[in-house]
Amino acid sequence: MIITDGRGRHYPWHVGIQISPSILNADLSNLSHEIRRLGGSADWVHLDVMDNHFVPNLTFGLPLVESLLAHIDVPADCHLMIDDPDRWAPGYAEVGAGSVTFHVEAAQHPLQVARDIRAAGARAGIALKPGTPIDAVREALPAIDMILVMTVEPGFGGQSFMTDMLPKVRQARALADASDADMWVQVDGGVDARTIEQCADAGATVFVAGSAVYRADDPAEAVLRLRALAESAAGA
Ligand code: DX5
Ligand code: ZN
Repeated sequence: MIITDGRGRHYPWHVGIQISPSILNADLSNLSHEIRRLGGSADWVHLDVMDNHFVPNLTFGLPLVESLLAHIDVPADCHLMIDDPDRWAPGYAEVGAGSVTFHVEAAQHPLQVARDIRAAGARAGIALKPGTPIDAVREALPAIDMILVMTVEPGFGGQSFMTDMLPKVRQARALADASDADMWVQVDGGVDARTIEQCADAGATVFVAGSAVYRADDPAEAVLRLRALAESAAGA
């Protein structure tokens, strides 16, 4: 199977490693500058939208994402940790995000949310908190482009990777392989140079990394290092 990444490059799936740095722990007062520090090393920039209801933290919403998109050229991977994605998720696609991921736990009609995101022009992702079994995504699968397996409890950066999520990453990989769509598997939370290889070995191909990138002296170099580790673990 051939996949296309966020920059329009085509790969066979097994070399389709993509890195999506999260700016949650970057300098939030200067986001476009922080994203430019990636220097073209990243496939996506991961934007964590939190509403202080679905998760106990508050970040930013649609107006900031829309404004930011006018100043950056890396595609946006929006991770919505918000209630009522049925109402809000398509708007992120409408303002130009390349990928919009909502939490299955928050959605009333997950299949319809995914269809609405696609209809608005983005790839549709579905996310699972650590306590949510993989079966929760089945209903929405016909309209899903990416499964996000959370490897920490959503809400904060800098937490420790939950190794016990790896079996769920393998289950997500099996669903993606069985799909007719170009479905990706993403991991998010505690992904760094010590944990990324296990994730790649379990079948993830899209890696969110927050503190591992933005707490490094050189974020671009940190991305390249993570990519090399993931590619070698995936046998690329
Ligand atoms: C957590 C967020 C993550 C977070 C990852 O709820 O969804 O994207 O920024 O940060 P690290 O890589 O530091 O765990
Ligand atoms: Zn995230």
